[in-house]
Amino acid sequence: MERATTPGDERARLAEDVTVRLRKAGCVFAEDEAELILSAASSPDEVDAMVTRRAEGEPLEHVVGFAEFHGLRISVDRGVFVPRRRTEFLVREAAALAGRDPVIVDLCCGAGALGAALAAGASGHVELHAADIDPAAVRCARRNVPGSVHEGDLFDALPADLRGRIDILLANVPYVPSGEIGLLPSEARDHEARVALDGGDDGLGVLRRVAAEAAAWLSPGGHLLSETSERQALAAQAAFAEGGLEPRIATDEDWNATVIIGRNP
Ligand SMILES: C[S@@+](CC[C@H](N)C(=O)[O-])C[C@H]1O[C@@H](n2cnc3c(N)ncnc32)[C@H](O)[C@@H]1O
Repeated sequence: MERATTPGDERARLAEDVTVRLRKAGCVFAEDEAELILSAASSPDEVDAMVTRRAEGEPLEHVVGFAEFHGLRISVDRGVFVPRRRTEFLVREAAALAGRDPVIVDLCCGAGALGAALAAGASGHVELHAADIDPAAVRCARRNVPGSVHEGDLFDALPADLRGRIDILLANVPYVPSGEIGLLPSEARDHEARVALDGGDDGLGVLRRVAAEAAAWLSPGGHLLSETSERQALAAQAAFAEGGLEPRIATDEDWNATVIIGRNP
């Protein structure tokens, strides 16, 4: 007698079907992606729609609507910068510097992953603010950040009473040189907002603006942390020094991550 088909069999068949479609579309981690899509979709039609979007080249995080970051599930809408796992290194460096009851600001916050992750591990009472110029990013951050989220250009977005009070200022600004945007993988180039990627002629335009103003907003002994590339690190360090901060460079080879850390003396 033939065994009746169980819901488990159906799911396994669907997973196999999705894996085959994703593999054909060139997804290297087709099996893992299939599992994620099946767990995120609420119906077979939604599975189909998600696989189609993924096969057309959309980032997986935009397709399923979230990214994993530092143990958190961060909601990410279409067009918004997908937080990179590499940036967890910046959060770890910041966590080592945050004392008790820290005032934390996540400038250029995107979906708000950095501030949310740092606040989750901080001790005592955390005052957390996040800000971004892109309304789509601000909408996402409002879902992810357990604090106040502001919209506007760099420090203009922040409440004035934060001046001189910020203990940890996270600023993972755009740092790709304008002329190199075209060389980025399609997932970034075609699916993340240009304002999230473009750092101007040498990639350091936004970082220089942040570094120039940061000292006025940091508490005495407070820190600014920005991710950059190995190639840009020395110029970024100089920008921090010009802004009156004591800069140092931290690197993590496993993640290929470079972070500039500036202390307000
Ligand atoms: C590289 S993304 C990083 C996002 C987030 N910090 C992360 O690591 O996931 C840079 C972010 O900076 C924002 N941004 C660019 N220029 C800005 C400006 N002048 N003022 C505020 N935000 C800005 C972009 O909208 C984007 O969300």
